[in-house]
Amino acid sequence: MAEELSISGTTREEKYKSLLPQISALLEGETDAVANAANIAAALRQTFGFFWVGFYFVKNNELVLGPFQGDIACTRIQKGRGVCGTCWEKGETILVADVDAFPGHIACSSLSRSEIVVPVFKDKQVVAVLDVDSDQLNDFSETDKIYLREIALRWSNCLID
Ligand code: SME
Repeated sequence: MAEELSISGTTREEKYKSLLPQISALLEGETDAVANAANIAAALRQTFGFFWVGFYFVKNNELVLGPFQGDIACTRIQKGRGVCGTCWEKGETILVADVDAFPGHIACSSLSRSEIVVPVFKDKQVVAVLDVDSDQLNDFSETDKIYLREIALRWSNCLID
């Protein structure tokens, strides 16, 4: 496993392409969900400087805060609440260009301006969500959706049955 990330490219897509194989290398041979989520959060934050990156795990029918990089965050989110709870309920990626315009957005930090949350599936059930926040308005696009979903998939593929 590489001890350091080496990211090439200038566009976000180029950086994701450079990051993906390195995420796979980080996850290789490791089945611990928390350890892998922690390294993914760190790798995303390190590569893109996102304001907040982290996982919430589905536990006993609520979302519970998992490994993250960024400021302290709310620990539990109910199904259907906020962007994360909506992502879980719908099983769909939620892209929010302006968090102030999203009804029910949970403001863990007033500095967060836009957000993307992707669901993570195991056996067709949402088992976690991957949440990325930006302090810039409209900071996420289809590119983030594609690559974050791919990263989420690689994380879920490491989970033991
Ligand atoms: N804003 C999220 C809550 C989690 S934090 O941003 C870390 C939401 O509305 O679900």
